[in-house]
Amino acid sequence: MSQQTGQTHGVAFVGSGSAKLETALSNVQLAKIVDTSDEWIATRTGIRQRHIAGPGDSVRSLGAEAAASAIASANLQPTDIDLILLATSTPDDLFGSACQIQHEIGASRAVAFDITAACSGFVFALVTAAQFIRTGAYRNVVVIGADLLSRLTDWRDRRTCVLFGDGAGAIVMQRCEGESDHLLSFDLRSDGTLNDCLNAAYEHESVTLAGDITVQKGHFSPVTMNGREVYRFAVKRVPEVIEKALFHAGLSTKDIDWLILHQANQRILDAVATRLKIPSEQVVSNMAKHGNTDAASIPIALDEWVRSGKIKNGDTLALSGFGAGLSWGAAILKWGQ
Ligand code: UT7
Repeated sequence: MSQQTGQTHGVAFVGSGSAKLETALSNVQLAKIVDTSDEWIATRTGIRQRHIAGPGDSVRSLGAEAAASAIASANLQPTDIDLILLATSTPDDLFGSACQIQHEIGASRAVAFDITAACSGFVFALVTAAQFIRTGAYRNVVVIGADLLSRLTDWRDRRTCVLFGDGAGAIVMQRCEGESDHLLSFDLRSDGTLNDCLNAAYEHESVTLAGDITVQKGHFSPVTMNGREVYRFAVKRVPEVIEKALFHAGLSTKDIDWLILHQANQRILDAVATRLKIPSEQVVSNMAKHGNTDAASIPIALDEWVRSGKIKNGDTLALSGFGAGLSWGAAILKWGQ
């Protein structure tokens, strides 16, 4: 397969973790803040509540909790980690939060950096990590998805504020000895022509610095989304990209044990599963509990299904992230050593 040309090592997926957030905001509570109802939110999205980070929480603290838990579940020490990739769109520091997490967990040998690809970020980071492992550059890699979308939410906008929540999840990927490679295939896509459908843009005004030289002064604005357009994009593009990835792997939808999509809307999960003819029992959904946690949604769902024993070693997983960019992608993998 062309994606594997020149590779010298395989990849295994050996651990998962997620952060535990205590505070949950229910639909009923939200209905006291904006003109909405539990009924509207639940029937249109499947969401019942979302977690909100506490005053002491941060991408650093939640990402570190998820990473430490994933490293422990892989029976590794933080000092065994060579690389940390943090998928986030809401870093504590615009220069990156991955190094803060590296310090927090004591992964002193690891190089660490952020990747921004919104709700596709975790899948994009996982595929990026695999490239470093396949070339032999690194052995043990932690991939984190962590976002505090409550920071970027306009709590007066009922079209968006009902959707989002905070969270962090992580996995450990490891170099495989021998012939095996458990990242069976991937397919990543971007379409900047649809960029204005989903944004948290920098808004600024020009301030004169000296003579005719101006600088931009402003701030990042809350999330704006053309929900219907993004919905249409997701139900068309996500099945396509999963089918393409399956084709690269020489597999069909019948070979998938679990479908783990970005948790954006239960109706999107149902539509994609129907199109792919994957039974609903094999579709991972924790949306009712977490809402849409951006780059964190796939690793949180994965970790919950692994820890509850539903996902077992050797299971074939189809992961797909989609969202701002617009961007989307799929990875087909075998879970476990
Ligand atoms: O994470 C990145 C990827 N994001 C996504 O994939 C999101 C994709 N989009 C969606 O999931 C859906 O489009 C939404 C959940 C955002 C919206 O659902 P919808 O069924 O597409 O609703 P709509 O935007 O077509 O709005 C239908 C009606 C409108 O009223 P009118 O114009 O028909 O009178 C809205 O004003 O529902 C109204 N509405 C609400 N009513 C009560 C919109 N939001 C709310 C609300 N509560 N929270």
